[in-house]
Amino acid sequence: MTGPILNNKKKNKSKYIIIAIIACVLLIAIIVTAVIVNDSKKEIEEQSKPNEAVEQNIGEDIQETEEDASSDNKQDESTPAEENSVQETEQPKTDEENTTVGGYIEGQPEPTEPTYIDGVLIANKKHPLPSDFAPGENKEARAAFEDMAQDAKAAGFELVAFSTYRSYEYQETLYNNYVNRDGKENADRYSARPGYSEHQTGLAFDVGEKGKEDLWLTSEFGETAAGKWLVENAHKYGFILRYPEGKENITGYMYESWHFRYLGVDLATKVKESNLTLEEYLGI
Ligand code: DAL
Ligand code: ZN
Repeated sequence: MTGPILNNKKKNKSKYIIIAIIACVLLIAIIVTAVIVNDSKKEIEEQSKPNEAVEQNIGEDIQETEEDASSDNKQDESTPAEENSVQETEQPKTDEENTTVGGYIEGQPEPTEPTYIDGVLIANKKHPLPSDFAPGENKEARAAFEDMAQDAKAAGFELVAFSTYRSYEYQETLYNNYVNRDGKENADRYSARPGYSEHQTGLAFDVGEKGKEDLWLTSEFGETAAGKWLVENAHKYGFILRYPEGKENITGYMYESWHFRYLGVDLATKVKESNLTLEEYLGI
């Protein structure tokens, strides 16, 4: 009887060992799987980090851009206010700050007398004339123009003074018509407001060539032989080209190839040789 009992015991023992081995293998398999799953999870997390960082950077860029823009806006918005408050509350305005886009001094009262600087009658955007200043065309200037026209004729050009003295009232009509046609900002670049025109002094002559009326009041006149002759010779008769090209910021007016101012031969020659505008020459 002991033989079969012993065999059975041995069989049972082997059975338990096999079950234990299988359990161990299963346990190891579970642990290994768990480790693998954990690793790949970490790997996925690692891989996803750069993307998040990129997104974060983009987010920061957008934020910076918005902040820059908004701070720019803030500057844009605050600068004029700050400038205004400085101008209005802390410092009196200088002449430059006081001028409008047209170059005039805002709120300048009408003077009671015309302005003479170094004996020269001045009419410009900073020095207006009284509205009742009405001297008519200057006789000396007219005589000088006739002399000049005579010599120009000998040189082959027939000069015409198509606009000389203008009253305050006439300038007012002219200026208002230009404003209605082109707007104030544009008109201020080529037409004086009433009281501010050199034509009211009787010493300004708008000159053109007979037979070339289509070029009167144009810059092209300055490119004609007659226009060039005038630029070279007008001072010998006492005239200067009053509003030269590229000096709008100084004279207040666009280039006018046709507008000549009588100063007398001595001063006209000095101004011409200085290559300066009348404003620059007189330091006004
Ligand atoms: N055209 C010049 C500037 C005037 O109107 O007097
Ligand atoms: Zn003129």
